[in-house]
Amino acid sequence: NDQKRKQITEGLELLTKFYHYLLTTAKYGSSGMRYLEERGFNSEMIERFRIGYAVDSWEAVTHLLQKRGVSLEFMEHAGLIKKRGFDNKYFDRFRNRIIFPIFNMSGKTVAFGGRTLGEDKPKYLNSPESDVFHKGSILYGFHLARQAIRKSSQVVLLEGYVDVVRAHQAGVTCSVASMGTSLTEAQAAALTRMADTIIICYDSDTAGIEASFRAAELLQGNGKVIKIANMPEGLDPDDYIRKFGGERFKSDVIGASQTLMTFKMNYLRRKRNLSDEGDRLLYIEDVLRELASQHRAVERDHYLRLLSEEFSISLDSLKKQLHQVSVTAE
Ligand code: GTP
Ligand code: MN
Ligand code: MN
Ligand code: MN
Ligand code: MN
Repeated sequence: NDQKRKQITEGLELLTKFYHYLLTTAKYGSSGMRYLEERGFNSEMIERFRIGYAVDSWEAVTHLLQKRGVSLEFMEHAGLIKKRGFDNKYFDRFRNRIIFPIFNMSGKTVAFGGRTLGEDKPKYLNSPESDVFHKGSILYGFHLARQAIRKSSQVVLLEGYVDVVRAHQAGVTCSVASMGTSLTEAQAAALTRMADTIIICYDSDTAGIEASFRAAELLQGNGKVIKIANMPEGLDPDDYIRKFGGERFKSDVIGASQTLMTFKMNYLRRKRNLSDEGDRLLYIEDVLRELASQHRAVERDHYLRLLSEEFSISLDSLKKQLHQVSVTAE
């Protein structure tokens, strides 16, 4: 089994080099390179993240692996090639896709994420779980962000590969991605282990916002500061930086990130029209319902005060109502 792991790791390194070679060699990689250039990724990032390109072929990788004597069976297990049913021949799994190698904590390739150049589905094809790849325990980009995380004791959590590459290009090098919106326990543990402040900056769409709440709840309770960044609706970090630049991302998004409760209050606020009396009361109830599940007394008190000041309601009656909400929620 150790032998198997070793061979898979070697095969993955070989393919990381191969895909990167294909991308950076005009004869093979021009369409991939054009795609990355159009999206505004520079060559420094292409090198740093070892980005590659899988040519539009059924056998480029299979042939290389055969020639180098790598076990095809193991590479099939790692999800890089597949076997055809009718003649048992292997063929390449990633074809005509941009390849993002996924590294483990020490920087070794353990899987690939492959993006189509167009609109075909699935948009991203990922390596399956294997002996070397347990998706839920990997944070994309971690080994490249490690130094910056240590230095600032801050980590920025993003959704996708391109968000991480874009953030690094803009100088926010303490960025990593959960590769989708479902942060796992293992990823959460790694994040809280390495930084005092964790800033969640998922896509600003319904899926991303709701996932931010879940992630923040998972991360809370370790004495760490958990914040959520806010972007105009519909944008992800990559879109935002392309549109407004890295400096504004640093100051207006990362710099202006908010605690979970403040973020939630703003989110709830947007659903109501606070100049309407009825809506105002509903908003206050929304907030009290959130506060009912907040176990830290000091924080609860802090937000009750904010409500009390903003709506000129006595602290006493807010506390009474919070108690009622808590009782009915049980
Ligand atoms: P671009 O469209 O290239 O800007 O990518 P994105 O990162 O904005 O994509 P999206 O927000 O849809 O997804 C975020 C992350 O979720 C991606 O980087 C992937 O890690 C993962 N993901 C998205 N779509 C798929 C999919 O179809 N399959 C798999 N396995 N993962 C996906
Ligand atoms: Mn290179
Ligand atoms: Mn998304
Ligand atoms: Mn996105
Ligand atoms: Mn995107």
